[in-house]
Amino acid sequence: MVFAVPNIHETQDNDDRYLGQFIPLHYHHHMLTSEYRMGAFKTAIEHTVFSGAKVLELGGGSGVLSWFAAAKAEKVWCVEYNPDLVIEARRLLQLNTGSDCIELIHDDAFSYLPPEPVDIVICEMLHPAMLVEKQINVIKQFKERYRQQISSTLPRFLPEAVVLAVQSIQQNYVFMGFHAPIIAFQIPIAPHMDTTELAAPQVYSSVDYSKEMSEKFTWEGQFILEAGSVNALRFITKNILCISGTDNEITEWHNPHLILPLTEPLDAKAGDILQVSFNYSAGGSLSQLQNSIKATIVRP
Ligand SMILES: C[S@@+](CC[C@H](N)C(=O)[O-])C[C@H]1O[C@@H](n2cnc3c(N)ncnc32)[C@H](O)[C@@H]1O
Repeated sequence: MVFAVPNIHETQDNDDRYLGQFIPLHYHHHMLTSEYRMGAFKTAIEHTVFSGAKVLELGGGSGVLSWFAAAKAEKVWCVEYNPDLVIEARRLLQLNTGSDCIELIHDDAFSYLPPEPVDIVICEMLHPAMLVEKQINVIKQFKERYRQQISSTLPRFLPEAVVLAVQSIQQNYVFMGFHAPIIAFQIPIAPHMDTTELAAPQVYSSVDYSKEMSEKFTWEGQFILEAGSVNALRFITKNILCISGTDNEITEWHNPHLILPLTEPLDAKAGDILQVSFNYSAGGSLSQLQNSIKATIVRP
């Protein structure tokens, strides 16, 4: 997960699979300092990884999630593609006791397979709306290879699923008098003073990593609006990290909300209907989603 991602790739409509692959080193500090993210993953790993488990992490970054897993696992294979991070993770893991069972591997999650069956696969290549980073694409291809070459019984995935929702909002885009309707990321667990919700969010897709997964998201739907000026859509990404077997407790974590401005604000009276459609590919660019959005008001 990355908060606001100043990634040069996002300005291109290049949808090759490596879009979003390289997250600059300093963002890993940012990810390490998010107690919300770290706490949720630590809890989910504690619930999921059992004593003696064999664990694979795809996209290990600093190695922190593999290190959480190593507290109970017998063996952790931690795969990272960015060579700078492999060097950094190696250094960091050496600083931390309890890393002995972690094997750090410089390889591509799109092609790597562990040498033997694993119980759990951890993968945090999560980006708002499942754009940019390659979580769905990587896991989809991993499952195919794993079934063909290792076992017909798949490991458990952490996260287990993601629920995607969209909401029509009025967003404040005036900054000290300067009008700038611009893409934004919003911390999910904070008050949102700049946002007025004009309708309840609607789920447009959910993905269960253990099942067949589509890499395409296509949605058409309607919102019944409160009075206001609809000038943006807010995309909500709720990751179900794990459902614990004993008490069905769900550990979840939201990516930052993605707020995309509409090309023109639409003035709405209470009860007006907003007709919305969009489509995009998992792992695709932000502009791909933004350019596909169609929103019109339909008066009942
Ligand atoms: C959002 S970061 C998460 C890092 C770490 N797991 C954590 O939670 O702090 C995603 C990581 O996946 C790595 N990555 C992206 N694509 C990859 C690929 N195809 N193969 C291996 N690693 C990849 C990135 O370099 C990055 O370190």
